[in-house]
Amino acid sequence: MIPRETIDEIRARCDIEEVIGQYVTLKRAGSNFSGLCPFHSEKTPSFTVFPASNSFYCFGCGAGGDAITFVRRAENLDYVEAVELLAKRVGVTIPQDSRGERTRNGMTRQRVYDMNLAAAKFFRSCLFDPAIGGEGMRYLSEERGLSGAVIKRFGLGFAPNSFGVLQRHMNSLGYSDGELIEGFLCGKSQKTGKAYDYFRNRVIFPIIDTAGNVIAFGGRVMDDSKPKYLNSSDTPGFKKSRNLFALNYAKNHCAEQMILCEGYMDVIALHAAGVENAVATLGTAITQEQARLLAKYTKKVIISYDSDGAGQNAAARAMRLLGEVGLEVRVLQMSGAKDPDEYIKKFGVERFRKLLRDSRTGFEFRLNAILARHDLSDGSEKLRACAEICDMIAGVWSGVEREVYIAAAAEKLGLGIEGITSDVNRIRAGKLREYRKKEASEAQASLRNYGDRVNPDSARNLRASAAEETILGLLLIYDEYRALIARGEIGLAAEDFCTEFGRRVFSEIMALQRSEGGYLFELLGQTLSPEEMGRLARLEQKRRMLTENGPAVLQTSIETLRQSVRQEEEKQSSAADFFARKREEMRGGQGKGPGGA
Ligand code: CTP
Ligand code: MN
Repeated sequence: MIPRETIDEIRARCDIEEVIGQYVTLKRAGSNFSGLCPFHSEKTPSFTVFPASNSFYCFGCGAGGDAITFVRRAENLDYVEAVELLAKRVGVTIPQDSRGERTRNGMTRQRVYDMNLAAAKFFRSCLFDPAIGGEGMRYLSEERGLSGAVIKRFGLGFAPNSFGVLQRHMNSLGYSDGELIEGFLCGKSQKTGKAYDYFRNRVIFPIIDTAGNVIAFGGRVMDDSKPKYLNSSDTPGFKKSRNLFALNYAKNHCAEQMILCEGYMDVIALHAAGVENAVATLGTAITQEQARLLAKYTKKVIISYDSDGAGQNAAARAMRLLGEVGLEVRVLQMSGAKDPDEYIKKFGVERFRKLLRDSRTGFEFRLNAILARHDLSDGSEKLRACAEICDMIAGVWSGVEREVYIAAAAEKLGLGIEGITSDVNRIRAGKLREYRKKEASEAQASLRNYGDRVNPDSARNLRASAAEETILGLLLIYDEYRALIARGEIGLAAEDFCTEFGRRVFSEIMALQRSEGGYLFELLGQTLSPEEMGRLARLEQKRRMLTENGPAVLQTSIETLRQSVRQEEEKQSSAADFFARKREEMRGGQGKGPGGA
């Protein structure tokens, strides 16, 4: 079985348009991409990729799903093979035996923690011994400006420039070479098979989990040599995708909001300056698990990534992941310095606090990105910027939110609210028309109901199955609805559904929702076929196109579903009664009295 973190990591590292773009020539169409469908032959593109929902759907043949489903179909692979292929492409290693609590060497989690703690103490004593760690101390205090108190608080250390001092020290404490290798404190020589110290001549950052265990280490060089950081790989006690640097401290200061940085040094600089609600990922892009972890502690996250292009792209992606778990997300915009660490050194922490207060919502961030790409003094450029902004706003389903955004856009562009509103409405009407047209042609292609191979039961009760599709579509999109059902605040069970497909999909969705890692569309592919995933992609896109997706729609659909299932049963049973009566009459006509069967 593929571990959940692997799926999270793949999702975090690859954009669906990149994956599909390797097979299909895609053209940007508003916020989506379109191209010729690789799964049936066509001359005009009905194949669409939706980056916002990480999915694709072909209005011509009904193929659809997530990136994994795409690869399954395109390469004719099963789920696990497709994940392995994608993992390889984006450089994610799938851990062997990741479910066991013990390492290959039979180390328990606790043994790994104990070993790491002993190593952390050793690294620290090296740092504080001028004969050994003088250079490390000079680097941290002079070059990076850290006080002794901060160095101690973060348990920083120094790994001497030697291949064996840590190993010998740890051996003397009873840790075998095998254990040191297993815990990534030592590497294993390819030639001799012997263990050697992994971290050498580096300052050491211990990674500590919220329970206070030392779970891993990062080591930084003290000059410009490469690689800048070495990090321990995942071990039984440590999954990079499940932890955040400094969360052990930040968790006590983050009731209001949390600051998410890219680098260890950014976090340390912020804590040192009294901003103690800062955390960082551990050298990887943020994963959905980390997003959930943040959501456990806070409601609002301010992304404070590097100001360069790479940092801003990473911020856009983080914004999406954090938004998906229901966090309020803001992005901090910084100029004059490359990262928070440098910013605070140059301008002081008060200026940084002001940046925090001025941080922008996701919408403003995207709005500014569009504005920055166009020269507004040029008339036609301005029109293009306006069109892009209207298209973005048209994709928002909440009317209230649209109004707020329209007002903000009008101000930025120096245009009237009425003009922008009517453009947005025109785009929305166009999208809806286009969708209806596609749906109509789909119906003609008899994809729906009669002859529906994915969901053959749907033809038996059209009204109920339409309600069922609405419900599933809403559950695919909205975390809050799944949560309400999981908590029993909305009563809905598999038995309520009218088709075998509906019952199965609902059960899978809710099982994932209740699982430790939570729901993820990509994980549905473990049990559903690519054709079934395609159907789900259609239901999801349909909901996204429609204006109203509020709780009332869900409630009404549940009632409609129950009602039409009941009516159908009554019809069936009254038909059964009718025939029973007929039979009875016929028997009666043969002259037999009651009781004579
Ligand atoms: N990172 C890594 N390996 C590298 C470079 C970076 O694992 N070769 C990770 C580290 O977790 C690092 C983060 O990515 O903290 C952000 O990188 P960067 O901004 O380059 O590092 P900083 O922590 O800001 O370090 P510094 O300020 O010392 O350059
Ligand atoms: Mn930095």
